[in-house]
Amino acid sequence: MLFKKSMLLSILLMVALLFVSSFSAMAQDGEVEIFSWWTGGGEEEGLNALIELFNEDYPDVEVINATVAGGAGSNAKAVLKTRMVGGNPPDSFQVHGGAELVNTYVETGMMEPITGLLEEWGVKDKFNQQILEMSSYEGEYYSVPVNVHRSNIMFYNKAVLEENNVEPPTDLASFKEALAKLDEAGVVPLSLGDTNKWPATQIFESLLVSTLGPEGYNGLWNGNTAADDPAIREALVHFDDIMQYVNEDHSALTWQDATQIMQEGEAGFNIMGDWAEGYMKTLGWTPGEEFGWMPVPESEGTFIVITDTFGLPKGAPNPENAEKWLKTIASVEGQDTFNPIKGSIPARLDADKSKYDPYLTSAMEDFAEDTLSPSIAHGSAAPEGFITALNDTINEFITTGDVDAAFENFQDNHEEYVQ
Ligand code: GAL
Repeated sequence: MLFKKSMLLSILLMVALLFVSSFSAMAQDGEVEIFSWWTGGGEEEGLNALIELFNEDYPDVEVINATVAGGAGSNAKAVLKTRMVGGNPPDSFQVHGGAELVNTYVETGMMEPITGLLEEWGVKDKFNQQILEMSSYEGEYYSVPVNVHRSNIMFYNKAVLEENNVEPPTDLASFKEALAKLDEAGVVPLSLGDTNKWPATQIFESLLVSTLGPEGYNGLWNGNTAADDPAIREALVHFDDIMQYVNEDHSALTWQDATQIMQEGEAGFNIMGDWAEGYMKTLGWTPGEEFGWMPVPESEGTFIVITDTFGLPKGAPNPENAEKWLKTIASVEGQDTFNPIKGSIPARLDADKSKYDPYLTSAMEDFAEDTLSPSIAHGSAAPEGFITALNDTINEFITTGDVDAAFENFQDNHEEYVQ
């Protein structure tokens, strides 16, 4: 009897010990540092919703939300690079699929392949394969695409257009007429905020698609289109014409400021990637009600893609938790939680379409039918050196209006960084 009692006591003790140790293991699940530049309206909300979902599945992993403000990573990218090169990586970080990921971090040996994880989770064939391929290098995948954004898109304030008897344009000629009409009426025709340079480059890349067509544009990155193609000069001329109609203080403003000018009724049009859609929703607008959209004129049929992805850096302090993060963002639930808020469409093909608003639904339709082209401004098409050089070329061109000099610079930059 005595023996049995002591047996029972020691079993109880063991159970208690097991409980305590598993509890403390849980409490020690630790943290995961996620690095991004998502601090703007729509972006921040989307990220927070994703973190909340992550914490539902992993309540004991604390997410360190490490953000560096500045649209398109204008400040974050440099901070990240210093950390990566200095051997101080976050556990996972936002990076665009394509050249930005591959040239900067994969070829240089700073990332772990994650092909095995995608297979283990059974998600590899669930993604749009062209998008997933943007994260691949020599047969391995290096990051998980959380979304797809579009850069060649233009939003407009429906009331401003109606009040001024302006119809949404059908081509570049009618676009310029619409801009001139708004200008005469004393309204800012096209709002722009290019204090960080890339929003102007982003307009130019859309015009490159308008004049070169998708094959010609894609050919710039695979050697099939020469950098002295006359259509590039033509895009510069259109750009110069259109820039006559932007707000005077454009170089002092951010992309959010520019979207807001349009949202407040001071401007008619705004060319911006569709994260602006996420932002406008946080400002209380409903797509199709207060604002309309269309591809940048003459670029319809092409979807300039931007994909935000997250990977696993070598030497991440909490690799197991980073894997949990990647698993969350790779899930249908993760994609359907984040994207309807962010203003992007899912990179997975089996997402729940009913969760997406009319703009995003139309973007999903275009995405399925259009030719996909990589964005220059957002790091997918060309190496970083080319983007920096093009940003400078376009910036200078805005001041000088010298088409031939800009065309020559484009060719020099292309030769130096792309070929
Ligand atoms: C892009 C990024 C988007 C959005 C945008 C503005 O580069 O892919 O997700 O954040 O910058 O910041």
